[in-house]
This record gives sequence, C-alpha cells and structure tokens, in this order.
Amino acid sequence: MGSILNTDNLVKRFGGLTAVDKVTLNVEEESIVGLIGPNGSGKTTLFNVLTGVYRPDAGKIFFRRERIDGLQPHQVYIKGLVRTFQTPKIIQKMTVLDNVMLAVRNPGESLLAALFRRRRWMGFENRLRERALEILRFLGLDKHAYTPASELSGGQMKLLEIARALISEPKMMLLDEPTAGVNPVLAYTIFDRVEELRKRFGITFFIIEHRIELLMKYVDKVYVMHQGKLIAEGGPNDVMNNPDVVKVYLGSV
Ligand SMILES: Nc1ncnc2c1ncn2[C@@H]1O[C@H](COP(=O)(O)OP(=O)(O)OP(=O)(O)O)[C@@H](O)[C@H]1O
Ligand SMILES: [Mg+2]
Repeated sequence: MGSILNTDNLVKRFGGLTAVDKVTLNVEEESIVGLIGPNGSGKTTLFNVLTGVYRPDAGKIFFRRERIDGLQPHQVYIKGLVRTFQTPKIIQKMTVLDNVMLAVRNPGESLLAALFRRRRWMGFENRLRERALEILRFLGLDKHAYTPASELSGGQMKLLEIARALISEPKMMLLDEPTAGVNPVLAYTIFDRVEELRKRFGITFFIIEHRIELLMKYVDKVYVMHQGKLIAEGGPNDVMNNPDVVKVYLGSV
C-alpha cells in the first residue's frame, strides 16, 4: 500500500506569522493518522491548506501522486479529499436527510440542465436519497432522518457532518476535532465508525483531536505540531514518550 497524501516543505504565512512552517508529511493509504498539538499550533491552517482553502506560500501537496496545491476547494473535493467542516454548515431548519443530500454537488443545480434532463435527474435524486439513508443507518442517525437538524444533540451533529462528507464517496477524510463538545461515550462511537469506514470502504483518515488518549487507541501514526512545525511523528507510544512532545504538553517549550 502506498502513500495517498504527502507534502513537501509546505509553508503558509499570515503576515509575519508562519502558521505552517515547512511541513513535510506522508499519509499511507487506508491508514488512520492523528494530528495533535497545542492551541494555535497550526493544525487547522494545515487542513485549510491541504483542502485548497488557502494557497500555500511555498511547498507542494500530492494527493494520489497528483499535485493538488493551487486547486480550489471544490476541485480538491471532487478528487476525493474531503474535510468535515469544509462543506457549508448544517442547515438547522432542514431535515437531517436533506442536509446529507444537499452536501453532494447535484447536477440539478443548474436550472436549464434540470429542465432538460428532468427524468435523469429524478433517477439521480432517488439513488441519492437511498444512499443518504444508508449512510444515516450506518451512523445510527436513521431514526432522525426526517427531523429538523436543530433537534440533534451536539454529538449527533458531529455524526451528521461525517454523513455529509460521506455522501461524496471520499477516498480520504480530514476531520478537525470530530469529538469536540461530545460526551465520552459518543466520542468512542464516532471513532468506532471511523475505524469501520476504513475497514469497509478503505477510506483514509487524518484527524485533529485534543482527546489524546482516545485518539491513540485508533491511530496507526501521529504527527505532533508546535508553532507551525512538525516536531514528532510515529506510533502512539513512541510519540508520547518523545521528550520534545512531553515538553510541549507541559508548556515549557
Ligand atoms: N485567517 C487567519 N489570519 C491570521 N492568522 C490566522 C488565521 N488563521 C489562523 N491564524 C493564526 O495561525 C495560527 C495557527 O492557527 P490554527 O487555527 O491553525 O491553530 P490550531 O492548531 O488549529 O489551534 P486549535 O487547537 O486552537 O484549533 C494561530 O496563531 C492563529 O491565530
Ligand atoms: Mg484548530
């Protein structure tokens, strides 16, 4: 199994601040990789650069051996690299099911195309609904398919974000704090689903997570970021015993 995502000396600056500082990383296909680091260390900015939200100031990004730096977010999305928070926010008034269906770039969005290809579009919409329901069943949200998204708990909203990303059939998902604000039991459920998605569909995951103990139970590899730089990389045990990592987390670096 080869690399699915790798970067070469990626840099992103905000004025005088280098938020991503010569980041070179490699994510293997069908792996679950973690990204940890203190607040403000550049994790979200790195995801923003990887998904085309920001253009890097220097460096290269390869997804499935193809250069993707410089692409727009929707172009990255179409290639199968999807970020949970990249798609528009959950629409509270809409049902859970409609939120999932809306996330896919639908061919009916051009009015003309919809008029001319109405029959094809109807078939597409039915298939889309079936797939959305299947995803909701998988994530345990099917009971709520027809309720407004506003009635979901915080943890269920996180699952809905994942459902919205899955409708595009991604090859790789970047999750930015998928368990933030979620109760501990549901946090484990979310990671169990991640593991299952990797096993069943071969989806690769790159996950920012502050609950380090939880993350470490699931990951093959972890990167540690500090002040824009990657300061450690390796298996969970190696990383947690790395003196530089210990210093960062004790706040003395
Ligand atoms: N759009 C922006 N303009 C200017 N500075 C920014 C911008 N986005 C992020 N930063 C700065 O870049 C640095 C890295 O921020 P980032 O959000 O990537 O950190 P993070 O590791 O995701 O933190 P957290 O764990 O709190 O989510 C911070 O100093 C932040 O203030
Ligand atoms: Mg962040």
